[in-house]
Amino acid sequence: MVTASTLTDPYGVVASAVGTLAGPLHGGANEEVITMLEEIGTVENVESYLDRCLQQKSKIMGFGHRVYKVKDPRAIILQNLSEQLFEKFGKDEYYDVAVAMEKAVADRLGSKGIYPNVDFYSGLLYRKLGIPTDLFTPVFAIARTAGWLAHWKEQLGENRIFRPTQIYTGGRGQPYIPIEKRQSLADESLLELVSG
Ligand SMILES: CC(C)(COP(=O)(O)OP(=O)(O)OC[C@H]1O[C@@H](n2cnc3c(N)ncnc32)[C@H](O)[C@@H]1OP(=O)(O)O)[C@@H](O)C(=O)NCCC(=O)NCCS
Repeated sequence: MVTASTLTDPYGVVASAVGTLAGPLHGGANEEVITMLEEIGTVENVESYLDRCLQQKSKIMGFGHRVYKVKDPRAIILQNLSEQLFEKFGKDEYYDVAVAMEKAVADRLGSKGIYPNVDFYSGLLYRKLGIPTDLFTPVFAIARTAGWLAHWKEQLGENRIFRPTQIYTGGRGQPYIPIEKRQSLADESLLELVSG
């Protein structure tokens, strides 16, 4: 809707939506969930993995939502569908780890309203359907395109451009440094970016 409000074309709107969906805090989380489950490996490792995450204050992928403070209703539907699929075609090797993770997170973070979101079980479901991990977001995007375009149309109905309100809090009166003299500074900040 932010992109649509500039009156760009629907391709631009969908490109923006794909860009945001791909982020690990949004739709990209289901890929991260698979990586996490692989890293945990077994049900016995769940508690120690969670301890580490909580100690490092890192986000647990596939949990939490800006709106849902209970188990995401879409996660319930997807978990049921995965179980139906597992009954027919065999259980995913990480399903028990996922269920143990859900229980452990509910025990430790339930009071904060952190429960599985739509991305927690969707990855396991996609895997069972034979979809490679790097195609999870594209498949998710295909399903969402109709909704994105509905939002585009809705935005144009009563359009006013979105304008983020930002207040510059950086330094003022910075002297101009010629580019040759900035090189080492640039290298240092690039290195920082690359090494995360
Ligand atoms: C979805 C998400 C971005 C929502 O974020 P948000 O509404 O801004 O929530 P906040 O980041 O403000 O978190 C509120 C509190 O819950 C905690 N929290 C939220 N999600 C968490 C998670 N997945 N694991 C651990 N703690 C989490 C935060 O650390 C914060 O704790 P604090 O108040 O002690 O600082 C966030 O839950 C998240 O990063 N989840 C993991 C990524 C994911 O699965 N995304 C797919 C969403 S459908």
